[in-house]
This record gives sequence, structure tokens and C-alpha cells, in this order.
Amino acid sequence: MAEARGQFSSKLGFILAAAGSAVGLGNIVAFPVMASKNGGAAFLIIYLLFIAFICYPVMLAEISMGRHTNRNPVGAFSELSAGHPGWRLAGILAILTPFMIAVFYTVITVWLVVYVKEIAFGRLDLLSNESTFGEVVARPSLFGYLLGLLGLIFTILLGGVKGGIERLARVLMPTLAVMLVALTLFVLTLDNAVAGIRYYLVPDFSRMDLSVINGALSQAFFSLSLGMGILITYGSYFSQQDSISQSTRMVAVADTSIAIFAGLLILPAIFAFDPNTNTEDLSTSSVGLIFSFLPQIFLSMQSAVGYFGASVVAISFFSLVFFAALTSLVSIIEIPISCWIDELKLTRRKAVLLQAVLLSIFSIPAIMSLGISDYFTNFTSYGGVTKSFFDLVSDVFYETILPLVGFTVCIFCVSVLFRRE
Ligand code: PFF
Repeated sequence: MAEARGQFSSKLGFILAAAGSAVGLGNIVAFPVMASKNGGAAFLIIYLLFIAFICYPVMLAEISMGRHTNRNPVGAFSELSAGHPGWRLAGILAILTPFMIAVFYTVITVWLVVYVKEIAFGRLDLLSNESTFGEVVARPSLFGYLLGLLGLIFTILLGGVKGGIERLARVLMPTLAVMLVALTLFVLTLDNAVAGIRYYLVPDFSRMDLSVINGALSQAFFSLSLGMGILITYGSYFSQQDSISQSTRMVAVADTSIAIFAGLLILPAIFAFDPNTNTEDLSTSSVGLIFSFLPQIFLSMQSAVGYFGASVVAISFFSLVFFAALTSLVSIIEIPISCWIDELKLTRRKAVLLQAVLLSIFSIPAIMSLGISDYFTNFTSYGGVTKSFFDLVSDVFYETILPLVGFTVCIFCVSVLFRRE
């Protein structure tokens, strides 16, 4: 007998799971830095306009595509276009993209686990050393952590939509919100925190130009997990009876609020560390900021709260980022799994196993790309720069194909969906 297709238990289950997918590194790290560099509240206003008038409609479209067809992205694109090969290809890209994004996101999540462990063992001082990150990512022991993380993720996914994804989000999302508020309140009590808030929230319209506007739109798409096939798939697990619009609004509001709130944590923390911080100097890469810069900031808090206190703050922050990454990762790995279940007619157990094997095959070279193996570290070169396997996956799928898939969904809705009625 065929297995029943997964479904969320309620609207709240959907909201928490979709918010779990949306809240990730993009909210906690990329957004605050982007906002502070690009005009503070002026950037925020543009961002909010994009969320309300572009991203919210695209969210509705993606969720409706899934709910209407009850299928994964390949199935949804095919069915709605009556089998048009071009649109089927768009569906395939909407599976391939999350598949490959999961590869390098898994590696980053492994680093987060190592950082939490190192701080728990009293080594915050070591992590705040400039050279430590390069040493951590080249440790062969990362394989063990990778294995453990994949074991955890695939056990959660074996539990299914309700018992796995939704249950994880029900526990982690409220925990994440409480930790974020508690950490922010603490950081706001530090000297000079107000300078950070000022930098973050005072509007500076002189910084607005086309590239800032473009950056705000990309960030809004990325933050809401658009173009990753996630909302199409989650839409297919949404009850046929409930209204989509209210739940979608809640997800957009939750994601945006967490991003704005994260700014109230990161910027004051940075300014408390150095009141003369010039935000132009902040790293543009989330990875550099999290793993190299923030440990220094946490360590500097020892003058106020002692080494143990600083370690507690650091471990809370890294656990918060880990929870955000874990819920996003579980969501994104579910997309190919749903495709194997629908299109290859596999049971969930077999689909999860297949995906576990495939993800392992790709994440092993990715984790070896930062020093463990010379071959994968110097995998290729383009634009005059040597690129690792990890860089290649990130550049091709994250930087290039992801926005393309988001754009394709918009074109699909306008040219195929809305014409059908
Ligand atoms: N919306 C997520 C974020 O803001 O970080 C984007 C994301 C990235 C979701 C990677 C899932 C994922 F695996």
C-alpha cells in the first residue's frame, strides 16, 4: 500500500516549520551587517517594501503551487505547465539548487558544532585568535562531526513531516526566539551599545544607490528562502482547508522580525567591543564574521563578565546560530527527499537513505576543501583565482542559480499560472 503523503498537523506547525527554514545565517549575520553598511533604517524601509510587495506575493505563489498540485517542485512545475519540457527543467533546477546548497551549508554547520564544543571546553581564547579558523577547517576530525551531524539530520527526516520537521521546529524555534531576546537584552546593557543601535537605526539615505537596492532585494529573497523549492514543497504539506495568506504573512513577519532583532544583538556587541568601529571594515562574508570576528568580540566581554561569563555568552550565540542553521538544513534536505518520494515512488525510508548517501558523497569533498585535501582545496580556477570544491558549489548554486530559480518562479506564475484561469 502506498504511504500517505506527509502533512503538517496544523497552521502553527506549518508556520513554525516554514519560519525554521527561513531563519538562518541570512537573518542572524548577513542582514545586520548589510543594514548597517547600507544606510541603516533607510535600508530597512526598502527591505520592508520588498518583503511586502514582491516577496510576499512570490511566497504565496510558491506555496499555492505546492498546495494545488500536492507535489514537489519538479512535479509541481510539470503538472501546472501540462508537461512542458522547459518548465520541467525549471523544476529540476529547483531540486538541484537546494540539493547543492545543502552540501556547503552542511559544512558550515559542522564548523558551528566544532565552535560550540571548543567554547564548552574553555577555548574561547583560542578561537578568537585570527589563525584558528584556518586551522579548525583543516582538521581531519571534522569527518567525525560530519558523520554525527548527518546522522542527526537524517534521523529527524526519517520521522517525517509531522514527527520530524515539525517537531524539531516546535522545539527549536521558540528556543531560538527566547535565546535571541535574552542575548540581545544582555548586550544592550554593555557600555557603548547605544552607538551600535544608532549606527543600525539612524537612516542615511545618501547611501542609497542601485546596488544597495539590488542587495536589499536579493537579501529579502534569500531570507525568506524563495527560489529554493522549500515553500513549494511545504505548500504541498499544507492542509487543503486552511487559508494560505494568513500563515504566509506570519512566516514573513517572523523571519523579518528575527532579522531586525539580530541587528540589535550584533551591532551593539560590535560597538561595545570597539566604539570606533567603522562598519565599512566589517567582513562582507557571513562566514568570516561569525568564525573569525565574533569570537574576538565575545572574548572582549570578559572585562565586564569574566572569562566564564564571556564563554557562556559565546556558547549561547553559537548554539543559536547552530539551531537556525539546523532547521534551515533539515528543510532544504527535505526538498530532494520529497522529489524521490513523488517521482521515483520510493517510501520515505528509502528516499531518506538515498538522500543520505547522495549528500555524503558531495559533502565529503566539500569538507576536504579547506586544507584537508590539496586536490579539493585547489579544485579549479576562474576569474584568475584558485577555487576549492566548496567555493565552486557556493559560487555556482548560491550566487548564480539560486536567484535564477527565484526569478523563474516569478515568470512561471505570470506566464503560466495566472493565464490558466
Ligand atoms: N533563509 C535562509 C537564511 O536566511 O539563512 C536561507 C537558507 C539557506 C535556507 C540555506 C536553507 C538553507 F539550507
